[in-house]
Amino acid sequence: MRRSLYAILFLTVSAPSFSQNPLVIPDTLSGTVFQLQIQNGSRVFYPGFNTNTIGVNGDYLGPTLLLNQGDFVQMQVTNNITDTTTIHWHGMHVPAQADGGPHITILPGATWTPSFEIKDRAATHWYHPHLHMKTAEHVTKGAAGFIIVRDPIEAAIVLPRSYGVDDLPLAIQTRAFDASKQFIFESALDSVVVVNGTKNPFKALSANVVRLRLLNAATERSFNFGFSNNMPFSVIASDGGLLASPVSKTRLLLSPGERAEVLVDMTSMAGQSVYLMSYASQIAAGIYGAANPQAMGPNIITGYTSNPLNGTNFNLIRFDIGSADPNGVFSIPISLTSITSIPASSANNTRSFTFMPQVGGPTGSLIGPFVINMMPFDMMMINDTVILGDTEIWQLTNQTRISHPFHIHDISFQILDINGAPPAPEYAGWKDVVLVPPMGGVARFITKFEDFADPVYPYMYHCHMLTHEDGGMMGQFLVIDTTTSVSEIGSSFSGMKIYPNPGTMSGKLNIQLPDDFEGVLIRVSDPIGRVLVTHQIEKGGNSAQIDLSSLNLSNGLLIIEAIGERDVLSRRYIVKK
Ligand code: C2O
Ligand code: CU
Repeated sequence: MRRSLYAILFLTVSAPSFSQNPLVIPDTLSGTVFQLQIQNGSRVFYPGFNTNTIGVNGDYLGPTLLLNQGDFVQMQVTNNITDTTTIHWHGMHVPAQADGGPHITILPGATWTPSFEIKDRAATHWYHPHLHMKTAEHVTKGAAGFIIVRDPIEAAIVLPRSYGVDDLPLAIQTRAFDASKQFIFESALDSVVVVNGTKNPFKALSANVVRLRLLNAATERSFNFGFSNNMPFSVIASDGGLLASPVSKTRLLLSPGERAEVLVDMTSMAGQSVYLMSYASQIAAGIYGAANPQAMGPNIITGYTSNPLNGTNFNLIRFDIGSADPNGVFSIPISLTSITSIPASSANNTRSFTFMPQVGGPTGSLIGPFVINMMPFDMMMINDTVILGDTEIWQLTNQTRISHPFHIHDISFQILDINGAPPAPEYAGWKDVVLVPPMGGVARFITKFEDFADPVYPYMYHCHMLTHEDGGMMGQFLVIDTTTSVSEIGSSFSGMKIYPNPGTMSGKLNIQLPDDFEGVLIRVSDPIGRVLVTHQIEKGGNSAQIDLSSLNLSNGLLIIEAIGERDVLSRRYIVKK
């Protein structure tokens, strides 16, 4: 009796009650032309149930794109689903028109073919849909994939890079399912972990140094990575590429959208198994995934407290370590790359962003929808205009009770400080997501806006909790080139003078029209054509003055048009603080 009880106990400990599945490793695509088919599919997450999915070239997730710095590539993205969608290259420095934000839609049946040069450093990026109000749905159903960029600096370091062998992409997600085992997109019931779309995964590894490319591709949840035996691992890269040198850690918190590359020394672990886990019991209150997602006061998210993942440590993937591969890697490098820090004193401009509950909501509330600077996202509203070549500090203030992972397109940044303290070394490299602490928490980053100006197509910034993003916690900015944008549009420039130049938000705009111009109306619009003010010109007059202070402008670009009886003159005009 006693013996069989022991046997049962032993069995319960050594054989988990759920079956384990081999980790799916996404296929790779390389070269310079990449064909991506966004398609509907289904996958069995529960025996007897087909869960409807969206995949890329497959049922769930998509192939890993292997890119080389300096290559010119063309993406050929075909939308085979019934919804309009987009594909955004998260983390990549590409022209706004190629960025795949919510304006760059791919209609059902259409193929989108952006081309661009790979300007990124070696890094782990990812791609995913970005259609406004549909991002959570499309990503949750499985439309996403890895991007691995390689460059000569990374190539010169002894690092594991046999894809799927000692260099593993790991997309970590949690999912909520309804009774018929279909995904729920907006839910605090995300109690099922999938890694590369695999439930309860395991992976055989050699007793070598192994590189894990961790991607938090969850909709809302942060993961606090660590191993079941608490062994240290070395963080070698953050969102935008290599750190200056490896940082040894036993825990690493990644919020949605964030990536890290870590090296794990398994050289003395032949014959052992170890779990990569999320130590969620150690996540601070005020982060989705902690026991309490609210920094102050009790949790009020429906269903959150009963979700077994919240505030509890749980397994992500089991690694079974075999013997060493003599051709594998046996050591961790001492140093990696040089990162030149951008001094705060070099900034031309500081912009402030405040996260609040939806306009009208109670200040400091946990419940969204959340907004940035009191403005819910509006496809037709350019929230910010950045001057090409400027170095800017972005100051993010979180007046809500939950932390938000803030992400910006176009550039990588360096975190200056979080609540006044410099970032921990594992976050001190190139980043494109920063988790902004709650309750008045402030994060500041610095970056330089180089290479890509576009007076029409904006880039996005937003919270990377996809439900928050879809709910309006997003804004858009133009990068404009003042050396070319303050010039004529088409050939109709012909002598309209505007001064002062640049204008000031609180000042007056003076327009002088050519003597022979029979002007009727001055129209001032934003770059996407929304009319801000119209001004009647007196008969026979050839000048006008417009008070900008009532327009509530931010730094940016205005389109000034003089509409005449026979002609329209138009000019772009820059307004600064
Ligand atoms: Cu990963 Cu704007 O997105
Ligand atoms: Cu958020």
